[in-house]
Amino acid sequence: MYKIQTLNKISAIGTDIFDKSKYSVAEDIANPDAIMVRSAKMHDMQFGDNLLAIARAGAGVNNIPVERCAQEGICVFNTPGANSNAVKELAICALLLASRKIVEAASWAASLKGTPDAPKTVEGGKSKFAGPEIAGKTLGIIGLGAIGGKIANAAESLGMKVIGYDPFLSVGAALHLEPSVKIVSDINEIYTNSDYITIHMPYTPQTKNTIDAEQIAMMKDGVRLINLARGELINSEAVVKAIAEGKVAKYVTDFADDVVLGVENVIVLPHLGASTPESEDNCAVMAAEELIEYIENGNIKNSVNLPNASMNAVGTKICIIHKNVPTTIASITSAVGNEGINIENMVNASKKDFAYTMLDVTGDVPPTVEGKINAVDGVIKVRVIK
Ligand SMILES: NC(=O)c1ccc[n+]([C@@H]2O[C@H](COP(=O)([O-])OP(=O)(O)OC[C@H]3O[C@@H](n4cnc5c(N)ncnc54)[C@H](O)[C@@H]3O)[C@@H](O)[C@H]2O)c1
Repeated sequence: MYKIQTLNKISAIGTDIFDKSKYSVAEDIANPDAIMVRSAKMHDMQFGDNLLAIARAGAGVNNIPVERCAQEGICVFNTPGANSNAVKELAICALLLASRKIVEAASWAASLKGTPDAPKTVEGGKSKFAGPEIAGKTLGIIGLGAIGGKIANAAESLGMKVIGYDPFLSVGAALHLEPSVKIVSDINEIYTNSDYITIHMPYTPQTKNTIDAEQIAMMKDGVRLINLARGELINSEAVVKAIAEGKVAKYVTDFADDVVLGVENVIVLPHLGASTPESEDNCAVMAAEELIEYIENGNIKNSVNLPNASMNAVGTKICIIHKNVPTTIASITSAVGNEGINIENMVNASKKDFAYTMLDVTGDVPPTVEGKINAVDGVIKVRVIK
């Protein structure tokens, strides 16, 4: 029986995918074989030896110690694209919130309750809430992955001119973009040409404060900024200062901090990007499917710390997580061959410092062989799947 621990509430449509005869799924479970998580912070957690994988039901993985997991032979998955429509819809909303003073106007209207002749008062007072249309304006998008790409196409269909920057744009993501989306290779072109800027890339130590005072200084006066990616990508102090100086007209962020909360012309949402039932279901289903495929077949799809790799084995499968260094594969195949075991098929792939090798071998694999592979320098984890 495999044990799956859920660290946050995971949509039942996802957890129900686990075959109850093979898996037990619970929040309170010791020594799990796999963990499903949404936003619980895992950096201080210690993991058991039998933990095979962590699946994040969502895109960002900055709550998980991804590098340490690779070193400990734990495959970390995310669910790219599963919540992208939810975030795209909120981004379109954010474009309008950044333009039309909707939040301020609605709260003013609500404040008129009980006053005499509210219908007349609203007609007299509404002019102070006027704001520009988005059609015809230029939207700059930083990061054109699952979310940024969908926003680009949606904004185009709403009549905006879209320019995008993504130095690591995948071929698949590029093919989904409307041809009219202009891709620039210099991020400064986003800053200097956009009326609205929205950011949709991962937060890492390298991308911290991607938008800071220096970048804001390059922007058009009255620029409107949207951050539904991660709070750390935009320096809150710099934005609040630029708002006070009139340089930035509006900031819509999904990330609360003490600097942005309560500031005029900043709209802070409580991390609502993926909070739709559809997105939570999509993420939970994708995360569960990734775990089942890895636990039962050793195949990796959508890992953030190990390479994607899959193989249909005819015999017994030996799955090895190891360091991406010379001679390791040769030593592994020798360790198997020296025991008289024939390798029928083999798949090897690497991602940065780590690699994954799957061997399809004939016959049984005695524990001694497993031990010999484990003893190879650079090998982190070995699993035999029959
Ligand atoms: N607010 C929310 O609730 C919410 C929900 C989902 C995702 N997110 C955030 O949105 C981010 C993007 O999600 P996604 O599903 O589109 O991910 P994705 O992986 O599909 O796309 C990210 C894109 O960013 C690009 N990128 C990486 N580094 C870059 C850089 N330095 N400059 C420009 N582009 C760069 C990548 O090439 C990729 O195309 C996630 O990392 C996550 O933090 C937030």
